[in-house]
Amino acid sequence: MRAVVTGASSGIGEAIARSLAGMGATVVMVGRDGQRLDAARTRILAAVPDAELVLERADLSLVGEVRELAAWLAKPPLPDVVISNAAVIAELDDFTSEGIHRALATNHLAPYLLLRSLVEPIGDRPARFVVVGASPRALARTPVDLDDLNLQNGRGLGPIPSFRPFAAYGRTKNMNAMFVHALARRLGGTRITVNGVHPGVIKGTGLGRDSRGALKVFGAVAGRFASGRPDAGADTPVWLAVSPEVDGVSGRFFVRRQVVPTASHTTDAGRCERLWNESARLVSRAEAEARAAGRGGVFGGVPRARP
Ligand SMILES: NC(=O)c1ccc[n+]([C@@H]2O[C@H](COP(=O)([O-])OP(=O)(O)OC[C@H]3O[C@@H](n4cnc5c(N)ncnc54)[C@H](OP(=O)(O)O)[C@@H]3O)[C@@H](O)[C@H]2O)c1
Repeated sequence: MRAVVTGASSGIGEAIARSLAGMGATVVMVGRDGQRLDAARTRILAAVPDAELVLERADLSLVGEVRELAAWLAKPPLPDVVISNAAVIAELDDFTSEGIHRALATNHLAPYLLLRSLVEPIGDRPARFVVVGASPRALARTPVDLDDLNLQNGRGLGPIPSFRPFAAYGRTKNMNAMFVHALARRLGGTRITVNGVHPGVIKGTGLGRDSRGALKVFGAVAGRFASGRPDAGADTPVWLAVSPEVDGVSGRFFVRRQVVPTASHTTDAGRCERLWNESARLVSRAEAEARAAGRGGVFGGVPRARP
C-alpha cells in the first residue's frame, strides 16, 4: 500500500504516518519544512526501524506547490490512500503571496485541489481519501460565510479579537465537511471513496502554537483537559484508510470510528456546490496572482526536482 499523509512532520499526521508505516505501507510524508520532516522521519524510524518513508516537501498554503505535488503524486506508483491532515490557525491578516488567507489556503484549498486533481490519474483503481476535519458539534455554530471565503472582512468572527483566528480556522474546518460531501457526489461510479474525520481533542501537537492573547491562554487551559495523545488522534483516520469495515463507504463523517451527523449548513447541496465553485475561482485567482508576480512552480518556471 502506498499512502500519502499531509502535515506528517508533527502531531496527529506524524502518528498517522507511523501507524501506517508499522502496517507495512510505504508512506509519503508531506510537510512544509525539510528539517521538521527529517526529524519526524527519525522519530518514526526509532519506532518502526523498517519503515518505508518518502519525504516530500511542499508548502500547501501555495496553490502552485499543491499543483506540483499533485502532478508528482499522479505519476506511478499512484497512491492507494491519501490522508489530508495539514492545517493551521493563522492570524486574520496572514495572507499568502498568492493573496489567499493562510488558513483557507492550507486547510481547505489544498485538500480541495490535491484530491480533485488525483481523481483522474487514479481512474478506475480503488483508493481512499480521508480528510481530517474537526468536531462537528463544536463547529455547528461556525457556518462558512460563502460571501467571504477568503476572510477579507471577517464579519461575524466574534467579539474577542484574539479569538477570531480560531473562528476563522473553524470555518475552514467546516469547509472540510462540505468538501467531503461535494467530492463524494462527484466520485459516484468510481472506486475512490472520501470520508471526513474528527481526530478528537488531542494534546502535544503544534496546532495553535503561534496563537496570541486570550486564545493562547485558552489553548493552554484546553490542552490540560484534552484527553488524547497523537496516537489516539490517528486511530480513526488510519481505520478509515485501511479497514475492510468501511469498504465502499463514502461521503460520511466519523468520530471514534462512528458515523456522526454534521451541521445542516455543511450538508446543504446548494451550499456545498457554491463552495466547490468559489474554491475553483480562488484557485484560479491565486494562480493568476502567482503568474503576475513571475513566480515559478509549474506555471512560470521549471518544476522543482523531486527525489
Ligand atoms: N489537536 C487537536 O486537538 C485537533 C482537534 C481537531 C482537529 N484537529 C486537526 O488535526 C489535524 C492535525 O493537527 P495537529 O493537532 O496534529 O497539529 P500540528 O501538530 O500543528 O500538525 C499540523 C501539520 O500540518 C503541517 N502544515 C501546516 N501548514 C502547512 C503547510 N503550509 N504546508 C505543509 N504542511 C503544513 C504542520 O507542519 P509543521 O510541522 O511545519 O508545523 C504539521 O505537520 C489538523 O487538520 C487539525 O485541524 C486537531
